[in-house]
Amino acid sequence: MSYTVGVFVGSTASDSINKKLAKALVKLAPPELKLVDIPIGKLPLYSRDYDADFPAEARAFKASVDAVDAIIFVTPEYNRSIPGALKNAIDWGSRPWGSNSFAKKPSAVTGTSPGHISTAVAQQHLRSILSFVNSPELANPECYIHFTEGLIDDDGNVTVPSTEEFLRHWLQEFHIFVVKVVGAQKITV
Ligand code: FNR
Repeated sequence: MSYTVGVFVGSTASDSINKKLAKALVKLAPPELKLVDIPIGKLPLYSRDYDADFPAEARAFKASVDAVDAIIFVTPEYNRSIPGALKNAIDWGSRPWGSNSFAKKPSAVTGTSPGHISTAVAQQHLRSILSFVNSPELANPECYIHFTEGLIDDDGNVTVPSTEEFLRHWLQEFHIFVVKVVGAQKITV
C-alpha cells in the first residue's frame, strides 16, 4: 500500500537549504511514500476574521492538507524557533474550529541549518505545536541535519554517503510509523 505525504518547507527563500533537503527526501523515500510539496508562501496572515469564509489560497491549502495521509515538516530555525510563515500555515490548517486538518495525521519533523545544533530548538517548538493540533509525531529517530557547503546539490543529491544513508533510514522509519498510525485508526471499538 502506498501513502501520500505532504511536505511543508518552512523556508520561503529562493535558495533555501531546507528546500534542498526536501528535494533530497523525495529522492530517498521508499516507493511506498509519495512525497508532494504543500506550498505555504502565498498564504495571507491568518486572522479569526476569515473563519466564516476562508480566502481561495487558504481553502486550496487546507484541501491539500486534507488530501494527504501524512506530513513531513522540513524547517529552518529562526531565532531559536520556527519561521513565522510555517506557524501561519499551521494556524490556517488548524482552523476554523472543528475542522483541524492535522488531527490524527501522522507527521515527522526535520530541518537543516549551518548552525551546530541544526534546528534542534525549532524542532522542539514545532513538536509542541504538533502535539496541540493532535498530530501523532515520529518521536525517534530524530533528524537534525547540519548543513555544510555542498552537502546537497541543486538536484537534491546528498553528497555525503553517511548522511544519505541516515536520511533513507529515517524515511523508512517514518513509513513504518505511518502504516501503524493509519492502520490503528481503522480499528473500531
Ligand atoms: C537564522 N539562522 C539561524 N540558524 C540557526 O541555526 N538558529 C537560529 O536561531 C537562526 N536564526 C535565524 C533567524 C533568521 C531571521 C534568519 C534569516 C536566519 C540561520 C539559518 O539557519 C540560515 O539562514 C539557513 O540558511 C535558513 O534556512 P533556509 O532558509 O536556507 O532553508
